[in-house]
Amino acid sequence: MRRLLKSAREYNRGMRRVYLDNNATTPVLPEVFEAMRPYFVEHFGNASSIHRHGQETRAAVERARESVAALLGCRSAEVVFTSGGTEADNLAVFGLVRPGDHVITSTIEHHAVLNSCKHLREGGVEVTFVPVDGRCLVDPDDVRRAIRPNTKLVSVIMANNETGVLQPVAEIGRVCGEADVYFHTDAVQAAGKVPIRVKEIGCDLLSISGHKFHAPQGVGALYVRKGTTLEPRAFGGSHERSRRAGTENVPGIVGLGKAAEIALKGFESGADREMARLRDRLESAVLEQVEAAGVNGADSNGGSASRVPNTTNIYFDYIEGEALIISLDLKGLAVSTGAACSSGAIEPSHVLTAMGLRPDRARASIRFSLGKQNTTEDVECALQLVPTAVARLRELSPLYNKESAVRS
Ligand SMILES: Cc1ncc(COP(=O)(O)O)c(C=O)c1O
Repeated sequence: MRRLLKSAREYNRGMRRVYLDNNATTPVLPEVFEAMRPYFVEHFGNASSIHRHGQETRAAVERARESVAALLGCRSAEVVFTSGGTEADNLAVFGLVRPGDHVITSTIEHHAVLNSCKHLREGGVEVTFVPVDGRCLVDPDDVRRAIRPNTKLVSVIMANNETGVLQPVAEIGRVCGEADVYFHTDAVQAAGKVPIRVKEIGCDLLSISGHKFHAPQGVGALYVRKGTTLEPRAFGGSHERSRRAGTENVPGIVGLGKAAEIALKGFESGADREMARLRDRLESAVLEQVEAAGVNGADSNGGSASRVPNTTNIYFDYIEGEALIISLDLKGLAVSTGAACSSGAIEPSHVLTAMGLRPDRARASIRFSLGKQNTTEDVECALQLVPTAVARLRELSPLYNKESAVRS
């Protein structure tokens, strides 16, 4: 207890803090905040008003729509602003599917899709959950085989939030196109991290969320391919071409547009490759220094599935992930066990168990996720903390035996 209190004091005494939990949320970039600032006070108009104040904010919303469309490779009229990824996912799923329809999704979806599909099932919709292999990959042939005459929608995540593994969405898109089935992909963890071209994916619907790529929390968007008839979820005014009623969150939308522009420029300047270099340095040095550890999302030969550049999910056998998170947090490093909403839950991650991990290994897994603000120094700082923290927890573990760890 005394040690804990001492650590808490250090925490409050301005110790260096490193944030490697960017898949939970990212800090708003200063340029994004500057772009948003005038829309809180100076340009406060309702974007639906016809006077000057409304025209100013309408123009800002439409400029942001163009920036988001450029990020996704679609027309601006195909972008519907929402309150975030969860609402975009819900609009996609509930906007299309009716009782009697069949839906195909995967076992590694975010709860925004998973629980939407479970809710649909209670309302008379049949749902097939296709599995993933040990690398966290859906097989497009499984999707093909699952399609039935009444299949209305396939929803498969683009980049998994826990492992960062990128799904073969273009192949799944082709399968759906051939079968004339709607295809939605939750690209919340992919947008801003890897280039997205909706036409190449062949999707009809695609969700993004601002706070995963340095825009604020509480704003997102759904790409809706031209000609897709979507029932709205909220009824009210005719905002967003009657697909999402409610006064627009103008500052948030402006922030989303700015973050989209920054992300696009980053692909041109190689910022994504630099981030992958930092992630790879972190991952390989952790694996070198810590025995009985490995990457979730790599196959048994050590080959990795393709991932977004900022994420690595590593298991540290013989420890509890929650204990490691608390111990690292007290030393100034913020990481996570996976989905932010499931942190604190005793249940092992549904994603890692779907990949075939034993429950104890799933519980011993930690997600490190980088953002644009992270530096080489941050990674080196994390590398000073992680091996020591793991070693200390293992010393306390009755299950840990150095010799068996080396063999495993
Ligand atoms: C893959 C994925 N989809 C959807 C969401 C939900 O997005 P939001 O937090 O904007 O509602 C998240 C958030 O963690 C996510 O990682």
